[in-house]
This record gives sequence, structure tokens and C-alpha cells, in this order.
Amino acid sequence: MNDRVSRETCWPPVLERRPPMLDLQGRNINKLRVSVSEACNMACSYCVTGIEDHQVAPDQLAMPDLLRLVELLHRHAGIEKIRITGGEPLLYRELIPFIEGLSQTGLEDIGLTSNGLLLAKSAPALASAGLKHINLSLDSLQPERFREMGRAGSLKSTLKGIDASLKAGLRLKINMVVMKGENDDELADMLEFGIKRGIEVRYLELMRMGPLYHNGDFKLVTMEEMLDQIAERFTITPAKADHDSTSKRFWVPGGYFGIIPNESAPFCSTCSRLRLTSNGKLVGCLSNPEETSIRHLLDEPNPEEKLKSLVLESVSYKQSSFTGSDLVMSKFGG
Ligand code: 5AD
Repeated sequence: MNDRVSRETCWPPVLERRPPMLDLQGRNINKLRVSVSEACNMACSYCVTGIEDHQVAPDQLAMPDLLRLVELLHRHAGIEKIRITGGEPLLYRELIPFIEGLSQTGLEDIGLTSNGLLLAKSAPALASAGLKHINLSLDSLQPERFREMGRAGSLKSTLKGIDASLKAGLRLKINMVVMKGENDDELADMLEFGIKRGIEVRYLELMRMGPLYHNGDFKLVTMEEMLDQIAERFTITPAKADHDSTSKRFWVPGGYFGIIPNESAPFCSTCSRLRLTSNGKLVGCLSNPEETSIRHLLDEPNPEEKLKSLVLESVSYKQSSFTGSDLVMSKFGG
């Protein structure tokens, strides 16, 4: 039976298959993080030197243009899963129509990274627009410490945002960046908080990026140190994670948690991500500041072939190990 016959006569119908985008090391690049705006209402010390670092890109794309680029990447470059990042994406006025547009392109796995400060109001609308899950950045459950580490915002607002999101049926994960002497005494408290609400907590090892790249005061807490700490309150059993997952997963009575060992065991060999900035540039690797602009493709009547070669160029910048860079995360989220 040739391919044509099978397509016409088989039931269920053969779904259209988009070609996977493989890099030279055989990694299937199918996840895209798209930054909708570089504005943020927090200024975490591991991300920026101050709130003034968060500036909207002067050449930020209009929403329909950004949407079109994502659509092209989905249709012609193997992208299947989208995570919307920033800055803080909830500051982006056109977030809801952007998510609706993504849903209409057939993208099923749409997630968002947020600090949660503005979530309480928008969670129901986000869920109706087609958002499925949120990675919530939360580094402390102590109000003063929350403000100190983030230099702005209030814990209360983020907690309200968490409640509203759960009520709206959104799946949540908490991302906690762990810093020595700042919040490393709160690991078990955060895990208890997550378990009570059915939220998986993921602890992030600090990455040498942006302001931390040349900074000698690198307050790293390693995965081993984190596990020792959590083991003081919980019995930990290693669990299985997805093959391209960034986190090591563990089970404790009541639920799972993860650790993303950015520094002590980086996951570069299975990295399946590309990043798109709000002004239309692809970033293939956090450990390499090379950017590949694709915004000019918006003016091309048949952009497919050029898009494929630009995606391959961006993917070729992926490093085999993470050595850090002075790229600022506020430009394209985590
Ligand atoms: N190290 C580890 N995680 C970081 N993030 C931002 N900068 C760093 C860094 N230097 C994380 C945030 C958030 C996501 C957007 O990326 O905490 O969870």
C-alpha cells in the first residue's frame, strides 16, 4: 500500500506530519519559548542588576507579526510546544488574543512562565483562551524575603494568583531559584506548600547568566546540597522524568518534586529548545549569545526554505555544555 492510498482509505486518517528539526547531535528541537515583552514588574537579583534593565525592546514586533512567526515555526520547523515568557508576560496587553491565536494554529501544548503578581485577575481568561499550564516563579514564602530577592512585588499577590489559577483549572509548577544564604533554608517549606496544593515544585540551580556571569559572588546551592536539606524532613525516592526533561525528578510521600541541575549536571545533550525574542530573533543556546533574526521573513511570500535554514543556523549555536553567558534572562524568560 503506497502512502497516497493509505492516506485516503485509512481510518483514523493519517495526520499531517511536520518534519522534525534535528540538530547535528540528533536532538529533536520541538519546543519554543517565545518572549512577548521584555517588561517586568520584578527585578530578581539573579536576573538583572536593577528594574531599569527591563526595557521593552524598541523594535518589538506587533502581536500579529509575532504570532505569524510562531505559526511559521510550528508549521515548517517542527515546533510543537510553546511556552510564553517575558519579561513578565502578564504585562503584555495582547496576551489573551496572542494565546487565542496560538490555540487556533493547532498548538495544543501552550504554557506560560510568570511571577504570578497579576494572575489573580487574569487566570480565568487565560484558561478560556487555551492556556494549559503555568510555571510560576516563586523563590520565597516569607513576605520580606520575597520582596528582597525580587526587589518589588508582594507575596500576597502571587499567592492569590496561585489560588485563582488552580480554581481556573490551570496546571501549575513552582520554579524556585535557590541561592546560598538567601532562601536555602526554605526548601522543605516550599515542598510542603506545593504538596498541599497538588503543585510540583522544581528547584533551580543558579545559572551563570547576565549579572552573574562575571560576578565572583555566585551563591550556588548544588543539587546534592538541596537533596540533603530536603531529606531532613522527607524520605526521598528517585523517580522517572521525560527523556528531554530538564529536571531530575523525585518522589516524597504526598507528591513529586524536581531539581534542575543547571550547573552541576547540565542537560545540554537533551536540550530540545529554541527561543524567540519579542523583536523576532532566534536564540539557540543560553550559553551562546549568537542571535538569528527571522523577522524579515514576514515580508517573504514563501518563507519556508529560508526559515528552515535560519532555524538550522540558530540550532547550530547550541553548545554541548553550559558555560554561561552574559545574555540577560529578562530578554527571553527562563
Ligand atoms: N539562574 C537560574 N534561574 C534563573 N531564572 C532567571 N535567571 C536565572 C538564573 N540566573 C529563572 C527564573 C524563572 C525563569 C524565568 O528563569 O527564576 O523561574
